[in-house]
Amino acid sequence: LSGEYFWYKGIPFPPAVYSPESISSTENAEVRDDDIFVVTYPKSGTNWMIEILSLIIKDGDPSWVRSVPIWQRAPWCETVVGAFSLPDESNPRLMSSHLPIQLFTKSFFTSKAKVIYMGRNPRDVVVSLYHYSKIAGQLKDPGTPDQFLQNFLKGEVQFGSWFDHIKGWIRMQGKDNFLFITYEELQKDLPGSVRRVCQFLGWQLSEEALASVVAHSAFEAMRANPMSNFTLLPPSLLDQRRGAFLRKGVCGDWKNHFTVAQSQAFDRVYRERMRGLPAFPWD
Ligand code: PPS
Repeated sequence: LSGEYFWYKGIPFPPAVYSPESISSTENAEVRDDDIFVVTYPKSGTNWMIEILSLIIKDGDPSWVRSVPIWQRAPWCETVVGAFSLPDESNPRLMSSHLPIQLFTKSFFTSKAKVIYMGRNPRDVVVSLYHYSKIAGQLKDPGTPDQFLQNFLKGEVQFGSWFDHIKGWIRMQGKDNFLFITYEELQKDLPGSVRRVCQFLGWQLSEEALASVVAHSAFEAMRANPMSNFTLLPPSLLDQRRGAFLRKGVCGDWKNHFTVAQSQAFDRVYRERMRGLPAFPWD
């Protein structure tokens, strides 16, 4: 692994997209009080939340999500071409990050900027990441499902350990500028989840605007939107001839992939690493 990913302060990163300089300049960037960040461990529903926020800040009007690629609407902070160095795309600025809390932009912690942290059942995360690793040009071949699962449980995948990531960020719970929400909650009640996000942002939406946010951020709507389904990327970056970025969009797909032995091994590590934490929707 170390030969193919570079390590920055103990965390592995794929070299084509990130560099030590791009991560360190993210750590030292200046946030603005009205910035809104979507922060996730990879494959937890980042782009779903970006679509929802893109629609909320336009009061449900879909013209922005239909005309500007999703990665431009909420650019990634830590990539080589980092969000902080780009001209403003919207007001307020939307930005995305997969960074663990200890590497996140320091100035955020003394600002009023907002972080929406999305969590997802790590079993579904590992399945989604396994499939994504086969089509994403910057990622190492995942190997066999069993090897990949072992690497995931050890944190030897891009952005490190899922357990450390969520345990680090969850410490922010209770702060006014931090919202913890899950992929599972969005699946269960999308209108209610959009309302929760609006409340957190202090954003008022009419019922009509809310219905539009829900309709345009649905899985099938995103899959049909070239600005949101990543088909604008060349196959060298994302080879969607081999599998779609918007793959299944469901909860519990891990049950179609894990063997009984894998599930038991996962549960053992999960129990050990998450001891003492409150229950999550996937527990
Ligand atoms: S990335 O590469 O880390 O930014 O990926 P991320 O966007 O975090 O996660 C990708 C998974 O989210 C699913 N997705 C959705 N599910 C339901 N509804 C909507 N609208 C939606 N948009 C994205 C996407 O399909 C990936 O999950 P899997 O399980 O692979 O389908």
